[in-house]
Amino acid sequence: MTAAPQKRLYIKTYGCQMNVYDSERMADLLRPLGYCATETPEGADLVVLNTCHIREKAAEKVYSELGRLKPLKAARAREGGAMIIAVAGCVAQAEGAEIMTRQPAVDLVIGPQSYHRLPELIARTHRASGERLAADFATEEKFDALPNERAVSGVSAFLTVQEGCDKFCSFCVVPYTRGAEYSRPAAAIVAEAERLAAKGVREITLLGQNVNAYAGGLSPLIRALARINGLDRIRYTTSHPRDMDEDLIAAHAEVEALMPYLHLPVQAGSDRVLKAMNRGHTADAYLRLIERVRVARPDMALSGDFIVGFPGETEADFQATLAVVAEARYASAFSFKYSRRPGTPGAAMQGQVAEAEKDDRLQRLQALLAAQQAEFNVSCVGRTLPVLFEKPGRHPGQIIGRSPYLQGVHVTAPQSLIGRIAAVAITRAERNSLAGALAHTPVLEPA
Ligand code: SAH
Ligand code: SF4
Ligand code: F3S
Repeated sequence: MTAAPQKRLYIKTYGCQMNVYDSERMADLLRPLGYCATETPEGADLVVLNTCHIREKAAEKVYSELGRLKPLKAARAREGGAMIIAVAGCVAQAEGAEIMTRQPAVDLVIGPQSYHRLPELIARTHRASGERLAADFATEEKFDALPNERAVSGVSAFLTVQEGCDKFCSFCVVPYTRGAEYSRPAAAIVAEAERLAAKGVREITLLGQNVNAYAGGLSPLIRALARINGLDRIRYTTSHPRDMDEDLIAAHAEVEALMPYLHLPVQAGSDRVLKAMNRGHTADAYLRLIERVRVARPDMALSGDFIVGFPGETEADFQATLAVVAEARYASAFSFKYSRRPGTPGAAMQGQVAEAEKDDRLQRLQALLAAQQAEFNVSCVGRTLPVLFEKPGRHPGQIIGRSPYLQGVHVTAPQSLIGRIAAVAITRAERNSLAGALAHTPVLEPA
């Protein structure tokens, strides 16, 4: 067999962790065709924009990036080459062929469930004929078509176990862009995790738009993965409060590899708003759930997502969100101004909130969340935490890893600890990270 000639592939990823996973898998699919990843779009033979449609700003970024790519494509053509531009991901699914109308430099549009067809579509583009749009929802077919081989670098990897959403929160595009909930078979997931562990991966984050709606239960899957040799840390994201079952909570008490970090979005604190959002839970049900989680795992680091300014949200409703935050106590959180998304029920609702009001509420919410994050980080000072080291730090002699609570931790320590878990005495809390020093007997494992 002769090696295929080298071609340059530039992938730019927007949006959530699942897009990060998908971008890696696209690169895996294209590698056997001779495509080698590059850091810049200049001179690339194939550019893939893996896009996000969640908020208007995210979706609009794609068109400005395409505007920047257009002259690069022309330059490539003047050199006698060709730059294929593919738009993948959730904007591709939501807008389809319209993207090629708005920006004719785009050659291909490929949805999140169709990217296994990239090699075939690229071949057709070279023949300048046939399909330029793939946006069906063949989730099962996609996973079956992906290569076993994954080019992982580093100690931590994402692994998609569930995709799509049947919840239809009234603000959200995901059920339309990712399709119906689909769970990969456990055997395929365990096999992928075993291959990752064999390549030196020590931490996996199980991904799903509703990861805890995993068919057959997320906890049995976690318990099976925890038995894989070398896999010391398991995380999962994102969970929905409605799917947080008692065995998953129990797993947090029982499975050592399951990290004490839970991303459990509540979105809002007013029951009236939660109902209009079609969340299917009340604020109180969420708070009681957090209580049960903390009985199982008292040190659980809680994370969440919030939307301010959903249609009809009053100042009193917003105060209810602040009250939920005050009671739940977050270690980290993401908060957003409501963005009106075409085709979602929220977009047509009465009582859209003025932009200035949204700005003001977001600022107040973020101030509270930042204070909680700082408080959580400060509470770690003086403790000794196991840190999984991932990479060299910014300063010479420094290495960076993560605590069980997902905080970045930087330490002056030998590079040989990268890829290993060591005990670190936390000495200082910074804005978004911790500083520490290796403990007396730092390495917590046989060499
Ligand atoms: N599947 C996950 C995450 C969905 S998208 C979940 O159910 O929690 C990530 C976050 O983006 C959401 O949790 C929500 O807070 C935010 N988001 C979704 N749609 C939005 C919109 N129209 N405007 C603003 N924020 C939005
Ligand atoms: Fe969107 Fe709601 Fe589904 Fe999450 S649960 S992806 S917020 S519709
Ligand atoms: Fe964005 Fe799609 Fe993820 S809309 S957040 S890339 S599921």
